[in-house]
Amino acid sequence: MSDFAPQLHAAMRAARRAGEFLRAHFRTPLPVDEMLAHDIKLRLDKETQQLIEHELRRDYPNYAVLGEEGRRVAENQPEWIIDPIDGTVNYFYGIPLFCVSIALRVQGKVVLGCVYDPMQDECFCALAGGLATCNGREIRVSPRSQMRDAVVFVGHGTHDGSGAAGIERFAHISAQVRKIRILGTAALTLCYIAAGRFDAYIENRINLWDFAAAALILERAGGQFLFTPTDAQAEKGSVLAWNGALPLPQAANLPFEP
Ligand code: IPD
Repeated sequence: MSDFAPQLHAAMRAARRAGEFLRAHFRTPLPVDEMLAHDIKLRLDKETQQLIEHELRRDYPNYAVLGEEGRRVAENQPEWIIDPIDGTVNYFYGIPLFCVSIALRVQGKVVLGCVYDPMQDECFCALAGGLATCNGREIRVSPRSQMRDAVVFVGHGTHDGSGAAGIERFAHISAQVRKIRILGTAALTLCYIAAGRFDAYIENRINLWDFAAAALILERAGGQFLFTPTDAQAEKGSVLAWNGALPLPQAANLPFEP
Protein backbone atom coordinates (compact mmCIF):
# COMPACT_ATOMS: atom_id res chain seq x y z
CA MET A 1 0.00 0.00 0.00
CA SER A 2 2.69 2.52 0.95
CA ASP A 3 4.91 1.62 -2.04
CA PHE A 4 3.64 4.62 -3.96
CA ALA A 5 3.35 7.07 -1.06
CA PRO A 6 6.28 9.22 -2.34
CA GLN A 7 4.63 9.44 -5.77
CA LEU A 8 1.36 10.44 -4.11
CA HIS A 9 3.14 13.26 -2.29
CA ALA A 10 4.67 14.40 -5.56
CA ALA A 11 1.21 14.34 -7.20
CA MET A 12 -0.30 16.33 -4.30
CA ARG A 13 2.46 18.92 -4.52
CA ALA A 14 2.03 19.24 -8.30
CA ALA A 15 -1.78 19.47 -8.00
CA ARG A 16 -1.53 22.20 -5.36
CA ARG A 17 0.96 24.20 -7.48
CA ALA A 18 -1.36 23.87 -10.46
CA GLY A 19 -4.27 24.90 -8.24
CA GLU A 20 -2.47 28.09 -7.16
CA PHE A 21 -1.82 28.89 -10.81
CA LEU A 22 -5.49 28.35 -11.71
CA ARG A 23 -6.71 30.41 -8.75
CA ALA A 24 -4.45 33.27 -9.82
CA HIS A 25 -5.96 33.29 -13.34
CA PHE A 26 -9.56 32.63 -12.35
CA ARG A 27 -12.01 35.24 -13.71
CA THR A 28 -9.29 36.97 -15.74
CA PRO A 29 -9.44 37.28 -19.55
CA LEU A 30 -8.34 33.92 -20.95
CA PRO A 31 -6.93 33.14 -24.40
CA VAL A 32 -9.03 30.44 -26.10
CA ASP A 33 -7.27 27.89 -28.33
CA GLU A 34 -10.44 26.24 -29.61
CA MET A 35 -14.15 27.00 -29.18
CA LEU A 36 -16.27 23.90 -29.95
CA ALA A 37 -20.04 23.42 -29.86
CA HIS A 38 -19.94 21.78 -26.41
CA ASP A 39 -16.40 22.35 -25.23
CA ILE A 40 -13.65 24.95 -24.88
CA LYS A 41 -9.90 24.49 -25.05
CA LEU A 42 -7.97 27.14 -23.19
CA ARG A 43 -4.29 28.05 -23.53
CA LEU A 44 -4.29 27.65 -19.75
CA ASP A 45 -5.19 23.93 -20.09
CA LYS A 46 -1.84 23.36 -21.82
CA GLU A 47 0.11 25.67 -19.53
CA THR A 48 -1.29 23.95 -16.45
CA GLN A 49 -0.37 20.51 -17.77
CA GLN A 50 3.16 21.76 -18.54
CA LEU A 51 3.44 23.07 -14.98
CA ILE A 52 2.28 19.72 -13.55
CA GLU A 53 4.64 17.73 -15.77
CA HIS A 54 7.52 20.00 -14.79
CA GLU A 55 6.81 19.40 -11.09
CA LEU A 56 6.50 15.63 -11.49
CA ARG A 57 9.62 15.32 -13.66
CA ARG A 58 11.78 16.69 -10.85
CA ASP A 59 11.46 13.40 -8.93
CA TYR A 60 10.31 11.07 -11.72
CA PRO A 61 12.06 12.16 -14.93
CA ASN A 62 11.40 8.97 -16.90
CA TYR A 63 7.71 8.36 -16.27
CA ALA A 64 5.28 8.35 -19.18
CA VAL A 65 2.45 10.89 -19.36
CA LEU A 66 -1.09 10.51 -20.65
CA GLY A 67 -2.77 13.88 -20.36
CA GLU A 68 -5.72 15.70 -21.82
CA GLU A 69 -3.19 18.13 -23.27
CA GLY A 70 -0.68 15.66 -24.67
CA ARG A 71 1.20 12.50 -23.92
CA ARG A 72 4.77 11.28 -23.50
CA VAL A 73 5.33 7.64 -24.35
CA ALA A 74 7.96 5.76 -22.29
CA GLU A 75 8.00 1.97 -22.62
CA ASN A 76 7.69 -0.04 -19.39
CA GLN A 77 7.51 3.05 -17.22
CA PRO A 78 4.78 4.08 -14.79
CA GLU A 79 2.40 6.56 -16.40
CA TRP A 80 0.96 9.77 -14.97
CA ILE A 81 -2.63 10.34 -16.09
CA ILE A 82 -3.36 14.07 -15.93
CA ASP A 83 -6.36 16.31 -16.39
CA PRO A 84 -4.98 19.81 -15.75
CA ILE A 85 -8.45 21.41 -15.56
CA ASP A 86 -11.42 19.11 -15.19
CA GLY A 87 -14.35 21.45 -15.68
CA THR A 88 -12.76 23.77 -18.25
CA VAL A 89 -16.11 25.23 -19.33
CA ASN A 90 -16.97 26.10 -15.71
CA TYR A 91 -13.53 27.68 -15.32
CA PHE A 92 -13.96 29.77 -18.46
CA TYR A 93 -17.39 31.01 -17.37
CA GLY A 94 -16.13 31.95 -13.90
CA ILE A 95 -17.96 29.14 -12.10
CA PRO A 96 -15.77 27.97 -9.20
CA LEU A 97 -16.31 24.25 -9.83
CA PHE A 98 -13.25 22.66 -11.38
CA CYS A 99 -10.26 20.64 -10.26
CA VAL A 100 -6.83 19.24 -11.08
CA SER A 101 -6.66 15.46 -11.42
CA ILE A 102 -3.52 13.30 -11.31
CA ALA A 103 -3.33 9.49 -11.22
CA LEU A 104 -0.45 7.06 -11.62
CA ARG A 105 -0.88 3.84 -13.57
CA VAL A 106 1.59 0.98 -13.17
CA GLN A 107 1.33 -2.18 -15.26
CA GLY A 108 -2.24 -1.35 -16.22
CA LYS A 109 -3.44 -0.56 -12.67
CA VAL A 110 -4.08 2.85 -11.13
CA VAL A 111 -2.03 2.90 -7.91
CA LEU A 112 -2.77 6.41 -6.69
CA GLY A 113 -5.18 9.25 -7.28
CA CYS A 114 -5.14 12.91 -6.30
CA VAL A 115 -7.91 15.41 -7.11
CA TYR A 116 -7.44 19.00 -5.95
CA ASP A 117 -10.20 21.62 -5.85
CA PRO A 118 -8.32 24.92 -5.60
CA MET A 119 -11.39 27.05 -4.80
CA GLN A 120 -12.42 24.99 -1.76
CA ASP A 121 -8.82 24.01 -0.98
CA GLU A 122 -9.88 20.36 -0.84
CA CYS A 123 -7.38 17.67 -1.75
CA PHE A 124 -8.92 14.20 -2.25
CA CYS A 125 -6.42 11.33 -2.34
CA ALA A 126 -6.07 7.56 -2.26
CA LEU A 127 -3.44 4.90 -2.66
CA ALA A 128 -4.51 1.48 -3.98
CA GLY A 129 -5.28 -0.65 -0.92
CA GLY A 130 -5.39 2.42 1.34
CA LEU A 131 -7.97 4.83 2.72
CA ALA A 132 -9.59 7.62 0.74
CA THR A 133 -8.98 11.01 2.32
CA CYS A 134 -9.87 14.68 1.95
CA ASN A 135 -7.25 17.03 3.37
CA GLY A 136 -5.85 14.10 5.32
CA ARG A 137 -9.14 12.98 6.91
CA GLU A 138 -10.77 9.69 5.96
CA ILE A 139 -13.87 9.95 3.77
CA ARG A 140 -16.65 7.39 3.19
CA VAL A 141 -19.58 7.13 0.80
CA SER A 142 -23.14 7.81 2.03
CA PRO A 143 -25.24 4.90 3.35
CA ARG A 144 -28.35 6.00 1.36
CA SER A 145 -29.90 2.92 -0.19
CA GLN A 146 -33.20 4.24 -1.60
CA MET A 147 -33.35 6.02 -4.94
CA ARG A 148 -35.96 8.40 -3.50
CA ASP A 149 -33.38 9.72 -0.99
CA ALA A 150 -30.57 10.05 -3.51
CA VAL A 151 -28.95 13.01 -5.22
CA VAL A 152 -27.60 11.86 -8.56
CA PHE A 153 -25.29 13.53 -11.05
CA VAL A 154 -26.02 13.05 -14.73
CA GLY A 155 -23.16 14.19 -16.95
CA HIS A 156 -23.75 16.13 -20.13
CA GLY A 157 -20.97 14.91 -22.37
CA THR A 158 -19.03 16.92 -24.91
CA HIS A 159 -19.13 14.37 -27.72
CA ASP A 160 -21.66 13.89 -30.49
CA GLY A 161 -24.77 12.21 -29.20
CA SER A 162 -23.70 11.87 -25.57
CA GLY A 163 -25.34 15.15 -24.59
CA ALA A 164 -28.68 13.90 -25.95
CA ALA A 165 -28.22 10.57 -24.18
CA GLY A 166 -27.52 12.50 -20.97
CA ILE A 167 -30.80 14.39 -21.31
CA GLU A 168 -32.74 11.16 -21.87
CA ARG A 169 -31.12 9.66 -18.81
CA PHE A 170 -31.79 12.83 -16.86
CA ALA A 171 -35.54 12.46 -17.51
CA HIS A 172 -35.50 8.76 -16.62
CA ILE A 173 -33.58 9.14 -13.36
CA SER A 174 -35.00 12.45 -12.17
CA ALA A 175 -38.44 10.89 -11.59
CA GLN A 176 -36.88 8.42 -9.13
CA VAL A 177 -34.58 10.56 -6.99
CA ARG A 178 -34.65 13.57 -4.66
CA LYS A 179 -32.50 15.73 -6.92
CA ILE A 180 -30.42 15.64 -10.05
CA ARG A 181 -27.25 17.72 -10.29
CA ILE A 182 -24.84 18.46 -13.12
CA LEU A 183 -21.57 19.81 -11.73
CA GLY A 184 -19.62 19.94 -15.01
CA THR A 185 -16.57 18.23 -13.55
CA ALA A 186 -16.50 14.46 -13.53
CA ALA A 187 -13.52 14.13 -11.17
CA LEU A 188 -14.99 16.37 -8.49
CA THR A 189 -18.37 14.68 -8.84
CA LEU A 190 -16.80 11.28 -8.10
CA CYS A 191 -14.93 12.72 -5.10
CA TYR A 192 -18.18 14.21 -3.74
CA ILE A 193 -19.73 10.75 -3.89
CA ALA A 194 -16.63 9.37 -2.16
CA ALA A 195 -17.11 11.97 0.58
CA GLY A 196 -20.78 10.97 1.09
CA ARG A 197 -22.14 14.34 -0.08
CA PHE A 198 -24.01 12.90 -3.04
CA ASP A 199 -24.86 9.42 -4.11
CA ALA A 200 -24.37 8.52 -7.77
CA TYR A 201 -23.08 9.59 -11.16
CA ILE A 202 -23.95 8.55 -14.69
CA GLU A 203 -22.27 9.69 -17.90
CA ASN A 204 -22.29 8.23 -21.35
CA ARG A 205 -18.82 9.10 -22.55
CA ILE A 206 -15.89 10.43 -20.56
CA ASN A 207 -12.14 10.16 -20.92
CA LEU A 208 -9.68 8.28 -18.77
CA TRP A 209 -8.02 11.47 -17.52
CA ASP A 210 -11.43 12.73 -16.29
CA PHE A 211 -11.91 9.80 -13.92
CA ALA A 212 -8.67 7.79 -13.38
CA ALA A 213 -7.76 9.42 -10.05
CA ALA A 214 -11.30 9.93 -8.75
CA ALA A 215 -12.45 6.37 -9.52
CA LEU A 216 -9.75 5.00 -7.23
CA ILE A 217 -10.68 7.54 -4.54
CA LEU A 218 -14.32 6.49 -4.81
CA GLU A 219 -13.50 2.77 -4.63
CA ARG A 220 -11.30 3.28 -1.56
CA ALA A 221 -14.17 5.21 0.08
CA GLY A 222 -16.47 2.20 -0.37
CA GLY A 223 -18.13 3.16 -3.66
CA GLN A 224 -18.65 1.27 -6.89
CA PHE A 225 -17.33 2.34 -10.27
CA LEU A 226 -18.40 0.61 -13.47
CA PHE A 227 -16.59 1.65 -16.62
CA THR A 228 -17.56 0.34 -20.05
CA PRO A 229 -14.87 1.24 -22.59
CA THR A 230 -15.88 2.39 -26.04
CA ASP A 231 -12.41 2.22 -27.61
CA ALA A 232 -9.74 -0.46 -27.82
CA GLN A 233 -7.32 1.46 -25.57
CA ALA A 234 -10.02 1.81 -22.86
CA GLU A 235 -9.36 5.55 -22.80
CA LYS A 236 -13.00 6.57 -23.11
CA GLY A 237 -16.28 5.03 -22.19
CA SER A 238 -19.45 5.21 -20.17
CA VAL A 239 -19.54 5.39 -16.41
CA LEU A 240 -21.89 4.32 -13.65
CA ALA A 241 -20.63 5.27 -10.19
CA TRP A 242 -22.45 5.11 -6.89
CA ASN A 243 -22.16 4.69 -3.14
CA GLY A 244 -22.49 0.91 -3.36
CA ALA A 245 -25.82 0.91 -1.51
CA LEU A 246 -28.25 2.27 -4.13
CA PRO A 247 -29.70 -0.04 -6.80
CA LEU A 248 -28.21 2.23 -9.46
CA PRO A 249 -27.61 -0.24 -12.33
CA GLN A 250 -31.25 -1.41 -12.16
CA ALA A 251 -32.57 2.13 -11.77
CA ALA A 252 -30.52 3.46 -14.71
CA ASN A 253 -31.76 0.65 -16.96
CA LEU A 254 -30.79 2.47 -20.12
CA PRO A 255 -28.55 1.42 -22.98
CA PHE A 256 -25.08 2.94 -22.82
CA GLU A 257 -23.84 3.87 -26.24
CA PRO A 258 -20.66 5.43 -27.55
C1 IPD B 1 -15.28 17.36 -18.85
C2 IPD B 1 -15.96 17.36 -17.48
C3 IPD B 1 -17.46 17.18 -17.62
C4 IPD B 1 -17.82 15.93 -18.38
C5 IPD B 1 -17.13 15.93 -19.75
C6 IPD B 1 -15.61 16.09 -19.59
P1 IPD B 1 -12.93 18.67 -19.15
O1 IPD B 1 -13.88 17.41 -18.68
O2 IPD B 1 -15.46 16.33 -16.68
O3 IPD B 1 -18.05 17.05 -16.35
O4 IPD B 1 -19.22 15.93 -18.58
O5 IPD B 1 -17.40 14.68 -20.38
O6 IPD B 1 -15.02 16.14 -20.86
O7 IPD B 1 -13.01 18.74 -20.65
O8 IPD B 1 -13.45 19.87 -18.49
O9 IPD B 1 -11.58 18.24 -18.65
